[in-house]
Amino acid sequence: MYRQACWDEKLVYELSRPGVTGFTTPINPQEVREAGERSLGKVPKNLLRDSLNLPELSELTVVRHFTRLSQMNYSISTGFYPLGSCTMKYNPVVNNQLAELVADIHPLQPAETVQGCLEILYNLEQALKTLTGMDAFSMVPAAGAHGELVGCLIIRAYHSEKEGKPRPKIIVPDSAHGTNPASAAMAGFEVSVVRTREDGCVDLEMLEKMVDGDIAGIMLTNPNTIGLFEKDIEEIVRIMHQNDSLLYYDGANLNAIVGVARPGDMGFDIVHLNLHKTFSTPHGGGGPGAGPVGVVAKLAKYLPPPRVVKNSEGRFVLEDGGSSSIGPVKLFTGNFAVLLRAYAYILAMGGEGLRRAALYAVTSSNYLLSKVRQLRGVTLPFDPSRPRKHEFVVSLAKLRKETGLGALEVAKRLLDYGVHAPTIYFPLIVEEAFMVEPTETESKETLDNFYEVLSKVVQECYESPELVKSAPHNTAVGRINEAKASHPIHLTLSMRMKKRKQNEQNTSA
Ligand SMILES: Cc1ncc(COP(=O)(O)O)c(C=O)c1O
Repeated sequence: MYRQACWDEKLVYELSRPGVTGFTTPINPQEVREAGERSLGKVPKNLLRDSLNLPELSELTVVRHFTRLSQMNYSISTGFYPLGSCTMKYNPVVNNQLAELVADIHPLQPAETVQGCLEILYNLEQALKTLTGMDAFSMVPAAGAHGELVGCLIIRAYHSEKEGKPRPKIIVPDSAHGTNPASAAMAGFEVSVVRTREDGCVDLEMLEKMVDGDIAGIMLTNPNTIGLFEKDIEEIVRIMHQNDSLLYYDGANLNAIVGVARPGDMGFDIVHLNLHKTFSTPHGGGGPGAGPVGVVAKLAKYLPPPRVVKNSEGRFVLEDGGSSSIGPVKLFTGNFAVLLRAYAYILAMGGEGLRRAALYAVTSSNYLLSKVRQLRGVTLPFDPSRPRKHEFVVSLAKLRKETGLGALEVAKRLLDYGVHAPTIYFPLIVEEAFMVEPTETESKETLDNFYEVLSKVVQECYESPELVKSAPHNTAVGRINEAKASHPIHLTLSMRMKKRKQNEQNTSA
């Protein structure tokens, strides 16, 4: 049975002891101040700090503190992480080591001194163009949702320039990831929702009726969030393009099709890629990502700056956007370490390797689905005869009806067996949705183990519901209050400090 480490870990401020140091620099603060004054002039007194309340800790205390905290965490390095729509695959550590090599380079260095880095960005753009069928990319966006915003701003700029004003609406399917309508709204669009048919694909009849002069474009991911390939994609493209409405491809699900199909060939005009899913940086965990945006040739002039170009002497230079560009959306050239990892991954895998990864991801997903769909209380919504792509969504509504327990409780109980929970309650069109994405990096044994654990938990729902209802029992933190768990972290920490102080006072009294 799995048991996660559980330390009653104090905050670094509580571990702090006056006078203890872990690291000293040969720098004299007075000299630093004088050097600063020489280059910047005198800093006004009201801007100078008298003191800085930092914890005072030895190096060993720091190492142990963070190691203990990491033991109370769960990651792809700990175990299976089938979080749907997140592609939590194993990412080669060597790519992290490569990313560390460039840690000392400053983004403000003149282009002449960072030719190697610019060449990496340039080559990565060529590779992404080949993989997606797009004609030009901006590497700048920092994540998927940021890429979506950039894409929507490009759609806006396209119609503004062509028709003298932007079109007001964007179509988003009811199965879409929440960031799609949010990004469209942030870019100033009104969102029109198109329904999913009973077979799990976009309702063409409804779409056709919605499209008019107000519709700027549509945002789609293919395969969609149900894990089904939009088989009518060519018809959707025809309907939209006939109206000069643009098609935006949410590339979060590229792991299903990379090396096999290209959004550009399907007819999409704009694509963002979640490099931090398909290309070797884990999604989740709050770390930096990269959501490069690719476009067809007619939209290249709208891309945000800077873009790396090769001049006539074969040197790499950063180019500012022209007058049609949507303008800067982030400082510098994007999250370089994430881009570098993606480039290293693409080179190491090669075209055939990437294609095989997609095929294995799809095979793993269908293998697991073939077992999971047999479980009592589990149903497969939408066309059950069609294979899914890299992920599948089953419904636990029947289980909820029969036992009172559903996706939430099952997800919590899985943690007791050392498995990360799948995505639950997304997409919104599936009742008690349970969305599993196994990825290509997991072995058959891991998938079989997941099935065994899940079938045990489903059995527990029928036979010992209280055990499931109160789960998890074996993790560092037990059942939490869902609302309080999303409390801003600083408030949670200050509440913890207060509680600890109160406990100490009570004990000493
Ligand atoms: C389908 C889909 N689109 C967009 C996004 C947004 O990507 P990001 O989290 O990088 O902003 C996600 C993230 O999970 C996603 O699954």
